[in-house]
Amino acid sequence: MSELSGRRIVLGVTGGVAAYKAAELVRLLGKAGADVHVVLTAGGARFVTPVTFQALSGNPVWSDLWDPRVENNMAHIDLTRGTDAIVIAPGTADVIAKLVHGIADDLLTTLCLARECPLLVAPAMNRQMWEHPATRRNIAQLAADGATVVGPAAGDQACGETGMGRMLEPDELLEHLIAFFQPKLLAGRKVVMTAGPTFEAIDPVRGITNTSSGKMGYALAQACRRAGAEVVLVSGPTGLPAPLGVERVDVCSALQMRDAVVAALPGADVFIGVAAVADYRPLSAAEHKVKKSSAELTLTPNPDILAEVAARPDAPFCVGFAAESRELDAYAEGKRRAKRLPMLVGNLVQDGLGSDDNQVILYDDAGRHPQPRAPKTVVAQKIVEHLAGLLAMRATRLAR
Ligand code: C5P
Repeated sequence: MSELSGRRIVLGVTGGVAAYKAAELVRLLGKAGADVHVVLTAGGARFVTPVTFQALSGNPVWSDLWDPRVENNMAHIDLTRGTDAIVIAPGTADVIAKLVHGIADDLLTTLCLARECPLLVAPAMNRQMWEHPATRRNIAQLAADGATVVGPAAGDQACGETGMGRMLEPDELLEHLIAFFQPKLLAGRKVVMTAGPTFEAIDPVRGITNTSSGKMGYALAQACRRAGAEVVLVSGPTGLPAPLGVERVDVCSALQMRDAVVAALPGADVFIGVAAVADYRPLSAAEHKVKKSSAELTLTPNPDILAEVAARPDAPFCVGFAAESRELDAYAEGKRRAKRLPMLVGNLVQDGLGSDDNQVILYDDAGRHPQPRAPKTVVAQKIVEHLAGLLAMRATRLAR
């Protein structure tokens, strides 16, 4: 089960240099589970051949409005039947102008005019074309007509100039598309989270840490963002890339993590503690490398960030995580009560730590809710749905 499983996407590739990135986009869409059907304009075919797109999508590539492979000669309608979205990447200034004016002089523009599904356009053009008043007008009209315009970004351009007009990268386009299909369950909410391990320095080269990969926390930050939340992710050292649209604050130690969380809290509706915070830290970090002869290490407890946040008078809705190696129900529910959390996600360490999959049980005032084993991205989505349900219930209660 991947994020775009069961989704049928028609990808329109028009004549811009960025067409080469569309090949990678097809690969990523396929990997995410989508069934991709490429419609290549005459201009697009000047940059990348149909063979490339056919090989990568595993489906025939379409270019001709009069393609005899479509039995009833209705290619302009048939191709988008049952389609979840048409994505045009790259979208040239020319195709955008045609879409805005309802011109239907080739297969792609005709499909767009005859469609019932949503349309996403990733513009790609030289910065002067992008800034031209005609393009500005067309982009505003395209959005007003209900299309979703993704990008462009600023940066180096094929013409040798630098400026606005670069098509978004394939991984960014993929993320926009995945987010596009997600219900905006957390729209208008601010979520502050912790993730990853902490690193408690012993001296300049050594420290106490743990094997938390940060994958679950990062997947959850991404799921919250996809659900429409503003997300601040306070992260210990992980080496993972920040999810698109998430504000990441990098920290090392538990004390730094607590400070960063406190700084991010104003306006937060939800706090989620996913980080595997070290329980203890060396009383003081040595300025110089400790010698073999001095084997003594004095430890002092770290603050419990989650318990502190949950105990604040203005506490946001707090969600905890508990990774246990046995007796999950007893320990997880015990932690939820001790830290006074409305929701806690429990898992057995052997089921999740470091891996891409996880199997969790959600605990709340109504009891335990076991979830099926799934990739962490899917588990994160379930957690968001459960969290959004509890937030909605709480809002209804407060309104009474
Ligand atoms: O370590 P423990 O099992 O108590 O962790 C349970 C929850 O508390 C987790 O959500 C974790 O992120 C949070 N926690 C924390 N600060 C600590 C210890 C744990 O925020 N010092």
